[in-house]
Amino acid sequence: PAEDEARIDEIKALLEANNAVLVAHYYTDDAIQQLAEETGGCVADSLEMARFGARHEADTLVVAGVRFMGETAKILSPEKRVLMPTLEATCSLDLGCPADEFSAFCDAHPDRTVVVYANTSAAVKARADWVVTSSIAVDVIEHLQARGEKILWAPDKHLGGYIQKQTGADMLLWDGACIVHEEFKAQGVEDLKSLYPDAAVLVHPESPASVVELADVAGSTSQLITAAKELPNERLIVATDRGIFFKMQQAVPEKTLFEAPTAGNGATCKSCAHCPWMAMNALDNLAGALRQGTGEVFVDDALRLAALKPLERMLNFQA
Ligand code: 13P
Ligand code: SF4
Repeated sequence: PAEDEARIDEIKALLEANNAVLVAHYYTDDAIQQLAEETGGCVADSLEMARFGARHEADTLVVAGVRFMGETAKILSPEKRVLMPTLEATCSLDLGCPADEFSAFCDAHPDRTVVVYANTSAAVKARADWVVTSSIAVDVIEHLQARGEKILWAPDKHLGGYIQKQTGADMLLWDGACIVHEEFKAQGVEDLKSLYPDAAVLVHPESPASVVELADVAGSTSQLITAAKELPNERLIVATDRGIFFKMQQAVPEKTLFEAPTAGNGATCKSCAHCPWMAMNALDNLAGALRQGTGEVFVDDALRLAALKPLERMLNFQA
């Protein structure tokens, strides 16, 4: 629509005037992903978003995603201004892991190395020895296990269970879940597979174990896009937020992508497979943030320094 065109032009001009760069997650709207691409920003998974923001020389990072992504950017680049289209965009994993309860859990298990998923608040990260994202989690836990360490993992029980299975590590799991991925149903994926037996199944490991078991490839959003390119299959069943289809379809224009069913009867449900918090990012509030400086992310200094340590461990980790 013409309105969107005008907004897009405005955002492009504002990005330039502010020496700002747009860092977007694969689950945000197509228009935002396209804008990031066209303006020299990045569209990526959470690990690549963190790396890109930390390395980029812009004065302002505009992070289109959810709150933890903006906080991570600010922790890694305190000298930059970090803006988000809305600070209301949270994550069920972050919400399900309050810092005080988590801290008590850590206190009760002092013999364990604390590894937290990036989808957490700065205060939870500040209690951790390591932060990981889904693209690096298995490698980091393998490394810790080889050193004989026992793990306390939070918050995603499905991702934690998956890592445990992959590595055989001794892991104590926090009871958290992603409301989007938890909805994918094994029966629905099996039904779709029986219609298209030649299809490969790609699954984000925040999904339940019964769904991950059906996967030809399980991995982070970037790893799933890479797999879509590398697999020979013409049809792909994808169990992650449908926002990923924009870049995945670009990467494999000749292939047919199916959204993994979120109901046991094989039907897809309109409100599922899309993160309600990622969906809060829009052209209007993105323009507003740049125009008025709203949605600026601040992280308390002491907290920032404490959270920086486990984040830097992740960024410096080589498998
Ligand atoms: P990725 O690191 O795989 O992009 O995951 C982030 C996320 O929030 C998945 O729900
Ligand atoms: Fe959090 Fe799930 Fe949304 Fe990702 S998709 S931001 S894990 S609620």
